[in-house]
Amino acid sequence: MQYVEVMEHKDKIAIVTGGARGFGFGFAQALCAAGATVVILDRDGDEARRAASSLSVDGASCSAVSCDVSDEQAVDSAVAHIVETLGGVDILINNAGLLANRYSADFSIISRADVRAVLEVNVMGVINCSVAVRSAMARRGGGVILNLASIAGYTIPGPYGLSKLAVRGLTVSFAREFAPDNIRVNAVAPGLMATESVMADLPSDMVGHFINDLQLLKRQGLPGDIVDAAMFLCSDKASFITGETLRVSGGFPLEV
Ligand SMILES: NC(=O)c1ccc[n+]([C@@H]2O[C@H](COP(=O)([O-])OP(=O)(O)OC[C@H]3O[C@@H](n4cnc5c(N)ncnc54)[C@H](O)[C@@H]3O)[C@@H](O)[C@H]2O)c1
Repeated sequence: MQYVEVMEHKDKIAIVTGGARGFGFGFAQALCAAGATVVILDRDGDEARRAASSLSVDGASCSAVSCDVSDEQAVDSAVAHIVETLGGVDILINNAGLLANRYSADFSIISRADVRAVLEVNVMGVINCSVAVRSAMARRGGGVILNLASIAGYTIPGPYGLSKLAVRGLTVSFAREFAPDNIRVNAVAPGLMATESVMADLPSDMVGHFINDLQLLKRQGLPGDIVDAAMFLCSDKASFITGETLRVSGGFPLEV
C-alpha cells in the first residue's frame, strides 16, 4: 500500500506564542509538517527568528514576530499584521508562559511584583491573544484555540498554579463565548516535562520524585507527549471537543 502523507493543516494559518523554544517550538514544527503557515510570536525576537528560519525548509513556511503577550496593544498590532500579510488566523496556541520554580513559592515569600508578572503573562497573555484572534477566525468560518495549562492548575502551588487554574477557567469561558463563531477552545495540562528551561531550573531530585513517587507511568514526560496531544486537539479528529483540559502527565494527579 502506498503511504500518502496527510497535510492536515494545508492552507491553515497558525500562531504559536512562545514558539522560540520548548513545547512551542515543537508545536510550530508539527504544524509546519502538517502544512500550516506558522507564525512564532515570542518576546525573544532573535531566538524566534532563529527558530522560524530553522523550520522554513522543504517548502514549510514559518516566520517570527517579536511580541510580549502581556502587552495588549502589541498583541493587537501583531495579530493585525499577521492577518494583513497572511490573510487570517485559523489556529492559536497560547503557549507562552513564565514557569520558573520561583513562581511556585508560597505567597508570603514571593514578591508581589513576581505574582503580577506571572499573572500578566500566563493569564492576561491568554486573554489578550484569544480576544485578538476572534474576529479573524470568525471571518474564516471558525478556528481552534489551544491553551497550555499545567497539573499545577490542579495541585495549586503558589502563583504559578493559580495562573494555570485560571487558564483552565479561561478555557471553559472562551469555549462558551467563542462557540457561536465556530471556534473550539481546549487546553493541555502537562505534568513535569523535560523541556530545557524546566530541567535547568528544577531541584535535581524533583524529576525522580515525580517519576517514582507521583506518576503512575514510570518514565520521564517528554515534549513530544505534549505535542501529540496538542495536535490531536487542534485537528478535525477533535471537532466535537471544546472547553476541555486534557492532562498529559503520566497519571498525576488523578481526579474523578
Ligand atoms: N515544561 C513543563 O514541564 C511544563 C509543565 C506544565 C505546563 N507547562 C507550560 O507550557 C508552556 C511552555 O513551557 P516550556 O517548558 O516549553 O517553556 P520555555 O521556557 O521552554 O519556553 C517558553 C517560551 O515562551 C516565551 N515567553 C515567555 N514569556 C513571554 C511573553 N510575555 N510573551 C511572549 N513570549 C514569552 C519565552 O521566550 C520562550 O520562548 C508554558 O505555558 C508552561 O507554563 C510546561
